[in-house]
Formats: sequence, structure tokens, C-alpha cells
Amino acid sequence: MKIIVCRNYAEMSAESAKIVADQIKSKPDCVLGLATGSTPEGMYACLSTMHRDEKLDFSKVTSVNLDEYYPIAPDNDQSYRYFMNFHLFDKVNIDKSNTYVPDGTAEDPDKFCADYEKLIEELGGVDLQVLGIGRNAHIGFNEPGDILYPDTHLTELTPSTVEANSRFFDSVDDVPKHALTMGIASILRAKKIIVLASGKEKHNAVLKLLGNTLETKYPATMLALHHDVTLICDDAAYNG
Ligand code: PGA
Repeated sequence: MKIIVCRNYAEMSAESAKIVADQIKSKPDCVLGLATGSTPEGMYACLSTMHRDEKLDFSKVTSVNLDEYYPIAPDNDQSYRYFMNFHLFDKVNIDKSNTYVPDGTAEDPDKFCADYEKLIEELGGVDLQVLGIGRNAHIGFNEPGDILYPDTHLTELTPSTVEANSRFFDSVDDVPKHALTMGIASILRAKKIIVLASGKEKHNAVLKLLGNTLETKYPATMLALHHDVTLICDDAAYNG
């Protein structure tokens, strides 16, 4: 795994935005796998600025997002569709019809998940997948447990994730308890992966990620199976 340690969040955001921008410049019709959460917000802000000031061109880009709460409506301001529109899609010249976020209103979630896998395959796979990492080392909503799932699936959030994400909701009771998420194999099928981590509360997850074991109780450790992963983190996440 390649490791880039940045001084702070701003530098981590700029470094990761540069990697995404280089991907778009080298393949304008690339497929980006995108993530939500606090960590990539700065990266999206940098990409929006690069579009505005340097004419970084998203017009041929397609995006597929990692996950979405379930159930949730796309216009709910805590949905990941809303997040993506707000932080990136509304700020750049991407064609919204080429942006895919799992559908938190799907009537048949299992069918939706199977179709999402087919969609990614039909798009030719993800060229560059952006990931955050949970404090419990989850990736997407692949939560720690005895087993992990390979493909996109409906999952139940762990109490610790519900609690961590309650900061965005009025109360912990308002946090959806399920999510649709790409599975570990869906993530590993990306041609290239970057993992962003910031802050000392992610230090233990980063240690696990770099620990050179495969443990279902630390889902991010599965990234060791991929040949092109870059961790971009700040000093606090790296050194604690
Ligand atoms: P965060 O979430 O960026 O809000 O910390 C990361 C994650 O849970 O994957």
C-alpha cells in the first residue's frame, strides 16, 4: 500500500483532489467511485474549485457512490444523494444522469443491489474508488462482523456507526438503521483505490489498515488484497 502522510486536513484534501483530477484528465470519460462522510468534504471542495478556476472538466465523467442509508428519500438533507449534489454535483459540470447513488427508496432492495452490480459492470468498472474509513475500520457500510459480503447488499448498521452518524441528525432515533452498500468485492474490483483518513479518532483504524492481516472484524484490512491502494491521511490519523 502506498502511504501519503499530510500535515493536516487541508493538505490531505488537496492531495486527494489532485489524484482524482489526474484521473479525470488522463481519462475524461472515467468512472469514479465516490464516498460520502465528513472526510472527503474538503476534497470535493478542492475539486469544485479546480472546476471553477482551472476548468477541470466533468462533462464525460460517470460516478457511482458506495452507499446510501435505507430507507431514506433523496431529498432528505441527510441522504447521500443530497450530500453528493450539495458537495460536488451541483458545483461542477457533471451530467447528473451519469451520477449513481444507491436508491434509498428502492421497493425491492435485493433486486436493486443486484442491478447496481450489473450497472457497475456495464459501465466497465470503477477506474478510481475514493474511500473513507470508519473509526471501527468499516469501508462503505461494510461493518465489522464474523462475515463480510462480497457484493452490493442491504446491511444493518452497528450501534457504533449509528452513534457516530447521529451527529448529523436531530437525534440518534432519526438515524436510519440500515443501508445499501457496495460489498468488499465490489470495492476491490475498482482499478485503483484511495483511502482518506483524518484525525486521531481514525488512528486505530489506520493501524489496522496497515497491519497486514485480513480480519472481518476490521473490514478495511481486506484492502490488502488489492494491488493499487493509496492511503492519504493526515499526521493525526497516522501518528495518533
Ligand atoms: P467520516 O466517515 O468521513 O464521516 O468520518 C467515514 C466512514 O464512515 O467511512
